[in-house]
Amino acid sequence: MTQVSLALRAPSANRVYAQAAGALALAEAHWVLGAHQGAAPVVRERMVSGMDALEVRTEEDSSTRATAADSASAATTVRLLASLSATLGVLDVIEEAAAGSAVPTAPLLRPRDLPGLLHHPADLETILRYPGKTNEQFTALLINLAAALSTRRAGLFDGTLSLLDPLCGRGTTLNRALRLGLSPVGAEIDRKDVEAYRAFLGTWLRDHRLKHTLDSTRLTVHGEQLGTRFEAELAPDKQTLRAGGGQRLTVLGCDTARLGQLLPAASVDALVADLPYGVQHGSRADGAWRRSPLEVLRAAAPGWRRLLRDGAGIALAVNRRTLDHDQASAVLAESGLRVLSTDGAFRHRVDQSIDRDILLAVPTNHPRVEQLSALAADQENEIS
Ligand SMILES: C[S@@+](CC[C@H](N)C(=O)[O-])C[C@H]1O[C@@H](n2cnc3c(N)ncnc32)[C@H](O)[C@@H]1O
Repeated sequence: MTQVSLALRAPSANRVYAQAAGALALAEAHWVLGAHQGAAPVVRERMVSGMDALEVRTEEDSSTRATAADSASAATTVRLLASLSATLGVLDVIEEAAAGSAVPTAPLLRPRDLPGLLHHPADLETILRYPGKTNEQFTALLINLAAALSTRRAGLFDGTLSLLDPLCGRGTTLNRALRLGLSPVGAEIDRKDVEAYRAFLGTWLRDHRLKHTLDSTRLTVHGEQLGTRFEAELAPDKQTLRAGGGQRLTVLGCDTARLGQLLPAASVDALVADLPYGVQHGSRADGAWRRSPLEVLRAAAPGWRRLLRDGAGIALAVNRRTLDHDQASAVLAESGLRVLSTDGAFRHRVDQSIDRDILLAVPTNHPRVEQLSALAADQENEIS
């Protein structure tokens, strides 16, 4: 028996590159569901009453359909669909043949109750606006993809997935991670960004009356001062905060190439970053430390690898105009990281100077590296 589910897609998804939103949602579903199920799912775009949707077909063994394990796996599929970055709602498609009628009836659409995945309101991601900010919905997609590749993916739903954005800007990815209930870590070299993010977060925590602490300290290694560090702890009430049961956020104001010395080895499950595009974003092109995206990657990759667990996942947003897929793959390979996604697998045009793509990668000794590579081959076949 075939179970058909529809994930309704937000109409405003990815405003800047609206035409590519459907293809991106398909690609996201391919990896998120495929990594979980061990094989590429059958997903296609479909219109439902004038709304964009993704249709997912799952083959179920009718003899086991009623078992607890089967309904648990159906619930997982719904949860995965609900977690896709553009999902508004999930519907089951129920084909009902009208008794005695030769005329086919329209299928019934039954809305599913979805688990609440987000712990904080949307304004945590949307209030701050600045040149060079990563689109929030695109950021959510990157997190989903990196988490999907991780052997600890379940931690996305219970707050234990450890997430690092080693080029965090003013915190778009960190804010999404906080909304997901995670305790993320970020690094950013630009002091103005670190300070702007700290100030924003302090105001936001106060405005939302969350119990919290917010501390800034110097960041030093072997007596050398690298920059600053700020740490926030937040919880809905004082007791949870006192008991250490809240969320934690850490931002290191330093060169990402130093992270290998600053954070514990093999502690990160998902590394998500929007690499510098190598183009100007207003005043953000200033600063002698600004290097080409490939140079940043070359300097940072060994340290990043040290921080990753073997079963970790990586999702990097890149500008194809300034970072060549093969060169980036070679640089990552030198540090024991294997790029899985093919060139252009997530390609979309952001503006004249940014032809964006996503590199998905894992450590070469990731326990599921072969199975995940097969998903990349499936995706290429579907595109061609
Ligand atoms: C495309 S932006 C990321 C924007 C971020 N996702 C946001 O929404 O705010 C890339 C960021 O990498 C930072 N960066 C560039 N080189 C760096 C380095 N060597 N170490 C740490 N951060 C760096 C830049 O300052 C910039 O904020």
